[in-house]
Amino acid sequence: MVKTIKIKGGDGDSVVMIGESLLNLGRYVPVEKTVIITDKNVWNCYGKDFPPYRVIKIEPGEKGKTLDTVREIYERLLEFEVDRSSFIAGIGGGVVCDIAGFAASTFLRGIRFGFVSTTLLSQVDASVGGKNGVNLDEYKNIVGVFNQPEFVICDLSLLSTLPERELLNGFAEIIKHAAICDTELFVFLEDNHKKALSLDRNVIGKLIYDSVKIKSGIVSRDEKEKGERRKLNFGHTFGHAFEKSMGIPHGEAISAGMIKASRLSVKKGLLKEEEFERLKRLIELFCLPVELPYDLVKVIDAIKKDKKRDNLSLHFVFLSGIGSAVIKEILISELD
Ligand SMILES: NC(=O)c1ccc[n+]([C@@H]2O[C@H](COP(=O)([O-])OP(=O)(O)OC[C@H]3O[C@@H](n4cnc5c(N)ncnc54)[C@H](O)[C@@H]3O)[C@@H](O)[C@H]2O)c1
Ligand SMILES: [Zn+2]
Repeated sequence: MVKTIKIKGGDGDSVVMIGESLLNLGRYVPVEKTVIITDKNVWNCYGKDFPPYRVIKIEPGEKGKTLDTVREIYERLLEFEVDRSSFIAGIGGGVVCDIAGFAASTFLRGIRFGFVSTTLLSQVDASVGGKNGVNLDEYKNIVGVFNQPEFVICDLSLLSTLPERELLNGFAEIIKHAAICDTELFVFLEDNHKKALSLDRNVIGKLIYDSVKIKSGIVSRDEKEKGERRKLNFGHTFGHAFEKSMGIPHGEAISAGMIKASRLSVKKGLLKEEEFERLKRLIELFCLPVELPYDLVKVIDAIKKDKKRDNLSLHFVFLSGIGSAVIKEILISELD
């Protein structure tokens, strides 16, 4: 069964379809004028199931998320004589969706676009919220636009070919969503971690649905990240710094980042010790790390370089209970 969630954006509405199939993509796009952007891994796994449109294949992974790749895409779009009535369908994970959304939003000052989201992380996080962008030098997502895709297809069957580490990146974000605003989802994760890890269709469908609901709810109240949307950065201040300084996957980094943020929450008297232990246990149930052998000097240095920093202080997301978060401004010197 397909479950849908409608998201209101500044420039139009978007619909996320959970349980819809890549095979039905043709129902949602103008047949003649669609160009697909994908990466080579996704093409190798699922190219045979793509509708017969022109395809631009980019190199997989974060390395290719650059303005050079965007330039190559623009050149192919010119070659294909794409015009204002054309449509771009991004089929891939967060990297493909971020680049495809950015290219579509800027080429000819913006043409219509939608996504088939193929990783758990992009289904629960990256393709929801209307942020599209690329990296510049060492700065992640520093060039980009806010613009909602017309639709996001979350095809659950595509997750079966995802490497384990990629799946865990998605589970870490789901745990984050539960921790910051949904006690019921948190309990569901505690009770169903085995089925989740084995990609039981009902369990995974509910996890994606709830995550999209949570993220889209927050985004619709604060599209441009002036307040509440910052809660989605729970675990990410330290997480990004771990990721950058240790070269580890995003999910592992933010898991340890959520633990670090929760420890600080206990220290500030915002979170009970037993609630901290509960989060730690859940992260462990999902085979994600709660401890990392990091170098504090390097980590603090990476936090200072983070683009979201305002001078010596930053907006830090604390947990004030299982299922609730608060944002407070703190000094970088209070972080260790
Ligand atoms: N726009 C946002 O709000 C937002 C939010 C979170 C993350 N992001 C971005 O998302 C990116 C990470 O996304 P990701 O984790 O999906 O990474 P990704 O797009 O690099 O995909 C991970 C790997 O899995 C492969 N892959 C994709 N689908 C597959 C499938 N079904 N089967 C087998 N292999 C498959 C890809 O080729 C790639 O090698 C980052 O660049 C991050 O900045 C954006
Ligand atoms: Zn994240």
